Amino acid sequence: MKNIYVLLKIIALFHIVAAASTNEAFFRTYRCHDRRCHRNFRPSKNVPNRVFPSSMKNFEHSTMAACRLSCDSYAGIWPLPVGRVVLSQKYAKIDPSQFVFRTSSSVSQEAQDFINEMTAIFLSNLEKSFDNNSTEELYGNSRNNYINVIFNINSSDLTLNWLTEESYSLQLLLEDEGEGGGLVEISARTVYGARHALETLLQLTAPIIKEGGHNGLVILTAANITDRPTYAHRGLSLDTARNFIPVKDILRTIDGLSSCKMNIFHWHATDSQSFPLEIKRVPYMAAFGAYSPEEIYTTEDIKSIISYAKARGVRVIIELDIPSHSGAGWEWGEEAGFGKLAVCVGAQPWRKSCIQPPCGQLNPVNPYVYDILRNIYKELIEIWGNHEVFHMGGDEVYIPCWNSTKEITDAMTVKGLKRRTEDFLKVWSEFQKTVLKIVDEERGTASNLNVSAIMWSSYLTNPAVIEQYLDKDRYVIHTWVESGSPIPDELLDLGYRLIISTKNAWYLDHGVWGQTKYHTWRDVYLNQISRKSGVLGGEVAMWAEYIDGGALDSRVWPRTAAAAERLWSDPIYRSTASVEPRFYSHRNRLIQRGIRPEAVTPEWCAQNDGECQ
Ligand SMILES: *[C@@H]1O[C@H](CO)[C@@H](O)[C@H](O)[C@H]1NC(C)=O
Ligand SMILES: *[C@@H]1O[C@H](CO)[C@@H](O)[C@H](O)[C@H]1NC(C)=O
Ligand SMILES: *[C@@H]1O[C@H](CO)[C@@H](O)[C@H](O)[C@H]1NC(C)=O
Ligand SMILES: *[C@@H]1O[C@H](CO)[C@@H](O)[C@H](O)[C@H]1NC(C)=O
Ligand SMILES: *[C@@H]1O[C@H](CO)[C@@H](O)[C@H](O)[C@H]1NC(C)=O
Ligand SMILES: *[C@@H]1O[C@H](CO)[C@@H](O)[C@H](O)[C@H]1NC(C)=O
Repeated sequence: MKNIYVLLKIIALFHIVAAASTNEAFFRTYRCHDRRCHRNFRPSKNVPNRVFPSSMKNFEHSTMAACRLSCDSYAGIWPLPVGRVVLSQKYAKIDPSQFVFRTSSSVSQEAQDFINEMTAIFLSNLEKSFDNNSTEELYGNSRNNYINVIFNINSSDLTLNWLTEESYSLQLLLEDEGEGGGLVEISARTVYGARHALETLLQLTAPIIKEGGHNGLVILTAANITDRPTYAHRGLSLDTARNFIPVKDILRTIDGLSSCKMNIFHWHATDSQSFPLEIKRVPYMAAFGAYSPEEIYTTEDIKSIISYAKARGVRVIIELDIPSHSGAGWEWGEEAGFGKLAVCVGAQPWRKSCIQPPCGQLNPVNPYVYDILRNIYKELIEIWGNHEVFHMGGDEVYIPCWNSTKEITDAMTVKGLKRRTEDFLKVWSEFQKTVLKIVDEERGTASNLNVSAIMWSSYLTNPAVIEQYLDKDRYVIHTWVESGSPIPDELLDLGYRLIISTKNAWYLDHGVWGQTKYHTWRDVYLNQISRKSGVLGGEVAMWAEYIDGGALDSRVWPRTAAAAERLWSDPIYRSTASVEPRFYSHRNRLIQRGIRPEAVTPEWCAQNDGECQ
């Protein structure tokens, strides 16, 4: 009896070896059942060739992406559109070269240049979305099967700010199931809305494997979508001071932001550890403050980041963190005869003078500090233009540092101030006022527009005292308190505008230091922020103590995409169960753009929707 089993096993083994040695390819296929895609139990030797299903029943898709495209209620679109979503459940083969773009409305040359660039980006992303090395010759030359993409954009305004209209509508219709080409109509108020529409259009495509093992691309045969963001400010804050993040990694991060319609790259550029910005007017800043000559963002780098982002619908808001979190780059004052520009720099034991080493806080009673800040902001305004807002930092001012600096306490005494907390807050708010005035002056005529400044929440923004110190028409408060905190609502009630970074959900650095807990993509996704008017939106925050260019992608992605849907669509879901297939689709899109996101599930689960919940 035993021998028979052994014999059977040997025969079975022989068959497996024989099958493998015939060098035949086996393919996975995917089936749609109940609006969910599953891998077929058995691999097939034949690539499914029915790419034009007349009925979805028993239809086998060659890739999971193609299955989700026709099977998922939202075709895998991320973030979920806000408005009408009508989608066919069929797809048809396309080739990127079929797309032809035309602007039907009359727009300025500048706007047309933007449109040309955004369509080039679309095509490049489309080509990256499948392996085109082994594409066969798709169509004969005789066919006229263009997909005409027509833009109806009724404003040439390229301003990207909190008032920018980002809504769009997208109508896609292929003729004869793709045989006769097709029409895509995109209507938007601004080029930015149209750009988002192209991002959605890209998501209506999927890679497939075709007859003969060739790779190809499909697109849904029809779609009718209207869409607009819930919040105007949808961002990622990235710290490039704790560790330097190379320019190419920043650009790749911006690619990721644009893929999910995020529109803010908040650049936390400087901190007490380093000052990596080239300021031509004050070259000592980077000379003293950068980690090395290679770890400096030159003016050219900065400009290229801004223009790269703008072409992708992303606005770059820079932050110099002042007056606290300032040390590196400010050390040269005494030698240059300007006195101490920053105090407590590198103080030890550091716990007496700051929250995180190395210590350093600007010296608010040294007039040269303001001259230098004027030069820095003058240069930033030259780069950014005189209408862009600045994030002015303002977090974690550590009163014991100023209180232990005789130069500061003496100057306070002269002004009749004591050494109580409120006296230090007065000094701090005077500092803010002076710096804002300098920035206004350097903006020139634009200063009449009262361009806002952003500040982190702090003692100064405490709802009980904020009105004494910060003008609500000028300051937007960036809160970083926990989800249960009453502070955001209290500030809203006082009439302040807010950007919200919920610390216990949207701090992407948590989980690798101290007592902090890692926030999964589900935590990020399910974090709802206030819908009250005055909330401009939110940001996930990537502090860089424990990342550099290496770990950047996996810490930021795909979690930032989870926040993107919260900020764009603000869906009512209380669980992520129904969201997972779309999220996995989007994670794959990030990979296609060259990002290396962390894994969020075993691939088996991503091949079998709904089976791992
Ligand atoms: C494949 O795509 C790349 C861009 O990713 C493009 O440069 C190349 O021309 C394409 N090749 C073919 C054969 O279409
Ligand atoms: C595509 O072809 C290029 C050039 O022949 C090669 O370098 C690249 O590795 C190929 N990519 C894939 C995914 O096969
Ligand atoms: C822009 O187009 C939309 C829809 O086509 C229209 O409703 C709106 O009035 C237009 N706005 C302007 C300023 O022309
Ligand atoms: C899209 O939907 C709207 C509203 O239902 C309709 O007026 C329009 O004709 C539809 N477009 C297409 C191409 O079906
Ligand atoms: C500042 O230092 C003085 C002297 O040590 C102390 O009396 C005072 O309470 C301190 N002020 C604050 C706000 O901590
Ligand atoms: C700017 O602020 C000043 C002073 O508060 C005010 O008089 C002026 O009306 C404001 N300008 C605008 C355009 O809001």
